[in-house]
Amino acid sequence: MSHNFYCGIDFGTSNSSVAFAGLRQKPVLVPVEGQKNTIPSTIFYETGKSAPVFGNEAITAYINGEQGRFMRSLKRVLGTDLMSAGTVVNGKSVKFENILAQFIKHLKVKAEVISEEEIKHVVMGRPVHFRDNDENGDKAAEAELKQIAAKAGFENIVFQYEPIAAAYAHEAGIRGEKLACVIDIGGGTSDFTIIRLGGKLKTKTDRKDDILANSGVRIGGNDFDKNLCISDFMPALGMKTTYGGKNLPVPSSQFFDLAEWSKVNGAYSFQNQRIIRQVLTEAHDADKYSRLLELIEKEKGHELLGQVETAKIALTENEENTQILEFLQGMPHIKSTRRNFNLSIKDNVNKTVQAVKECLSQAQTKAENINLIILTGGSSEIPFVQKSLCSIFPHAEISGENKLSSVGLGLAYDSLRRFA
Ligand SMILES: Nc1ncnc2c1ncn2[C@@H]1O[C@H](COP(=O)(O)OP(=O)(O)OP(=O)(O)O)[C@@H](O)[C@H]1O
Ligand SMILES: [Mg+2]
Repeated sequence: MSHNFYCGIDFGTSNSSVAFAGLRQKPVLVPVEGQKNTIPSTIFYETGKSAPVFGNEAITAYINGEQGRFMRSLKRVLGTDLMSAGTVVNGKSVKFENILAQFIKHLKVKAEVISEEEIKHVVMGRPVHFRDNDENGDKAAEAELKQIAAKAGFENIVFQYEPIAAAYAHEAGIRGEKLACVIDIGGGTSDFTIIRLGGKLKTKTDRKDDILANSGVRIGGNDFDKNLCISDFMPALGMKTTYGGKNLPVPSSQFFDLAEWSKVNGAYSFQNQRIIRQVLTEAHDADKYSRLLELIEKEKGHELLGQVETAKIALTENEENTQILEFLQGMPHIKSTRRNFNLSIKDNVNKTVQAVKECLSQAQTKAENINLIILTGGSSEIPFVQKSLCSIFPHAEISGENKLSSVGLGLAYDSLRRFA
C-alpha cells in the first residue's frame, strides 16, 4: 500500500476538523458532517448499542431523550485523574482513552473516504498548555493523546501547537512579510503565538527561527459558559439559598460540577443525589432547590449548559437575551445582559490578556511591532474578549476568517512540511 497522504487533526474541546495533503494534493479540509468541515466533539452511547454516534447526531439523540450517555469537552479530561478513573457506559466501566480513540478514528475514516487510501501520518494539534503550571500533567496529556491516536490507527504521530497551525493556514493569503500574533480563543484553552509570516518565508521548510514565542492558558468558552451559568442560571436552582435551623448555605460543589461540561456526568452520582435529598428536607427555598434534584434525576445537565451556551452566543449579537428552559418544573425565564456577562467573565479574560503580554515579553518584542493579528477560535467572537485582546496591539491589522477550521487546515500544511 502506498502512503501518499498526510493529515492533520484539530481535536478541539468543542469542535474538531481534519485536513489532508499529499505531494500532488494541496491541503484541504475534509467534509466531516454532511458537507461541513467541522464536527462538534461529542459522543453519544445509546443504551444497548455498542457503536456510538458522533457530533450533531449525538447532540440530537441526547436532546430527544434517547436512553444513553452523552459526552462533551472530552479534551479537558486529558492529563487529569479522570483519565485513569474512566466512566460508566452501558453499565460498564470504560476508559476515556478508548472513548477518545473512537472519536479520533471517526475523523480518520472521514479523511480516508476522500483520500481513498489509508492514512498513517498525522500531525495532531495541541494547546500550548493542556494544564496551567503543571508540566507533568501537560506531558501526560500529550502522551495520552499520542496513545489515543495510535489506538485509532495512526503510525506516525507528531504534535504541533494549535496557534502555529492557524498561522500556517492564514499565511497562504498574506502579502509581504508580517510580524503576527495569533490569538486562538477556543472552547477549552486560549493559545497565542508570535510568528513571522508571509513573503519568502512561506516556502521555507524549517520555520523554527520564525516562531518567536508561544503562550497559553486553560481558559476558553467552557469557562465563560461556567461563569454565565453560575451567575444567571444556578440561582433559579437554589444556589446560594440556605437550609436547616442554622441557616447554612446549601452545598455548592454540585452547582459547580454541573456548570462544567466535562464534569456533568459525574454530578449525576448516587452520592450527590443522596446529599441533595437530605438537604432538600430542610431547604428554605425548596421550590428552587428541588429543581437541582430534578435536573440530576432527569440527567438534563448538558441540556442546561447547552441553553447557557446559546445565551452566551446570543449575547455576542445582542445586548440582552432571554432563555426559556421547559425541561424543569416552574423554571422562570432566564434573562441575561451582555453587561453582566462581561462582568462574570472579566477575571478569566484578564488572565488571557496577561498570557498575551507574557508571549510578547518571551518574544522580546513590543506590542507596537506586531502588524497582524490572526484571530481564531469561536470564543474570539465575544465582543469583550476581542476588544480586550486586540486593543493590546495599536498598529495591527486584524485577519479573522474561518475561525472554526483554520487550525485543522494549518495542521495539514504542517503535515506536508514534516512528512513529505
Ligand atoms: N458567536 C459566538 N460568540 C461567543 N462564543 C462563541 C461563538 N461561536 C462559538 N463560540 C464558542 O466558541 C467555543 C468553540 O470554539 P472552537 O471551536 O474554536 O473551540 P475548540 O477548538 O473546540 O476548543 P480548543 O481549541 O480550546 O480545544 C465554544 O465555547 C462556543 O460556545
Ligand atoms: Mg481550537
